[in-house]
Amino acid sequence: MPTNLSILDDSQIQDHLKNHSLKIGVVGIGRIGLPTALCVANSGLETIGIDINKNLVDMVNSKDFPLKDEPEFDKIFDNVISQKKLSATTDINEAIPKCDVIILSLPTPMNNQNIPDYNALLTVGKNLHQLLSNGQIVIVESTVEPGFIENELLQSIEGPNKSLKSGIDFHLAVCPETANPGEIMKDFQNLPRLVGSIDEKISPIVSLLYTHVFGVELIQMPNCKTANAVKLTTNVFRDINIAFVNELALLFEKLGIDTYTVIDAAKRKYNFQPHFPGPGVGGPCLPVNSYQYLNSSKKIDRNFLKIVQDARKINENMPNHVINLLNDAYLESKKPLENSTVTLLGVSYKPNVHDIQIAPSEKIIKLLDEKNIKLKIFDPFFINETVFGYRVEKSIIDALIDTDAIILVTAHNEFKKLNLTSISSSLNTPILIDCTGTIDPKTAQSNGITFRGIGRGDNF
Ligand SMILES: NC(=O)c1ccc[n+]([C@@H]2O[C@H](COP(=O)([O-])OP(=O)(O)OC[C@H]3O[C@@H](n4cnc5c(N)ncnc54)[C@H](O)[C@@H]3O)[C@@H](O)[C@H]2O)c1
Repeated sequence: MPTNLSILDDSQIQDHLKNHSLKIGVVGIGRIGLPTALCVANSGLETIGIDINKNLVDMVNSKDFPLKDEPEFDKIFDNVISQKKLSATTDINEAIPKCDVIILSLPTPMNNQNIPDYNALLTVGKNLHQLLSNGQIVIVESTVEPGFIENELLQSIEGPNKSLKSGIDFHLAVCPETANPGEIMKDFQNLPRLVGSIDEKISPIVSLLYTHVFGVELIQMPNCKTANAVKLTTNVFRDINIAFVNELALLFEKLGIDTYTVIDAAKRKYNFQPHFPGPGVGGPCLPVNSYQYLNSSKKIDRNFLKIVQDARKINENMPNHVINLLNDAYLESKKPLENSTVTLLGVSYKPNVHDIQIAPSEKIIKLLDEKNIKLKIFDPFFINETVFGYRVEKSIIDALIDTDAIILVTAHNEFKKLNLTSISSSLNTPILIDCTGTIDPKTAQSNGITFRGIGRGDNF
């Protein structure tokens, strides 16, 4: 029988945490859920990772760390697996009844019409309806629209006839995850967490658990929807500000101004927050979160949040701008773009991660395909894989053979030290389009490269 933490006082709960006598289930052990499960297990609490991905579960149980691009977790992984603090299973029916607290770290993507897709949470909600008892606490870390927890998810767990009672048979809370892929450990150790619950007595219990596991500040929110709104607001703020600098970049290219010089000086003003232009905004969070807010506002009034709609349009149009820069560079070189070979450096949506979810590179590749351009791609995180229909080259040297132009899409560390002299001598038509702001235009030009960079107005 699971422990009903809601009827215990703080010191009794602290005793359970200190004595490691609680069992925690983490449903969804992907990019966020696995590091979470590892931290829970590393705090001494027995942890079960539950996932429908059998390969992933098998990797965990056979001591093969799946998140190779996430620093610092490999040692914890070895440690908690060898101490049998963490195990994984695909069998939710067997696992949930053993757990006192269940953390949901399930995906919340959107469909191809940009409508948020909460099916994973709702499916697990229905599973939980069959499995919860004795006041287990369910904590949702997934990013959702304000109101989804209190309405759709609560109903799916309570069941059609409310045969399971929230506040009695189970308790529902949120602790939205705000960590940044590639630096999850740093964020876990430093960022405060938000906590909200349906039943107000549950937030302090969640806070005790998360303090035990992460040791960070817990910000108490008045309810679940406010906590979820904070999470969305931080990401949508970034989407809008990136759209703003992307538009400035387009303007500054025409005005002969270097966007990076402007941002660098502007950030000296105490209330300016730097954001940088790029080929678009990808990943499982920012674009989806903007559409989650737009979905919420649509239910009230389609005209709400026009600024978010515009930001999405601007950011989604940036791959077209990359192609415009490429066209422009070919014009200057007096070479035809058709039938030439272009190499894309970087396909990940952000530097130093193995992740192509909603990556701008996909649209850039599609636009190049439409022009019948021969394409090669290289990304150190995807060597020997096929990405968007292309086999990734084995090395940057292979990627530069028989190529006319390079588009640098992702600022992976490996690309920060690109040898412009050797690029200039390797390329048939040395053309370089920089979407990342990492190449100095003057150095590129002095190496005989025809250079274009997003927001680089000073090189024309
Ligand atoms: N990745 C990020 O940058 C990030 C950052 C902060 C918050 N988030 C949020 O965290 C949540 C999880 O994101 P993620 O990036 O870890 O996703 P992910 O796709 O990496 O992992 C989700 C895991 O859930 C599993 N899963 C799917 N359906 C399931 C089901 N019915 N039962 C059990 N397991 C199931 C998948 O197999 C996968 O392993 C999302 O809401 C996301 O928005 C993500």
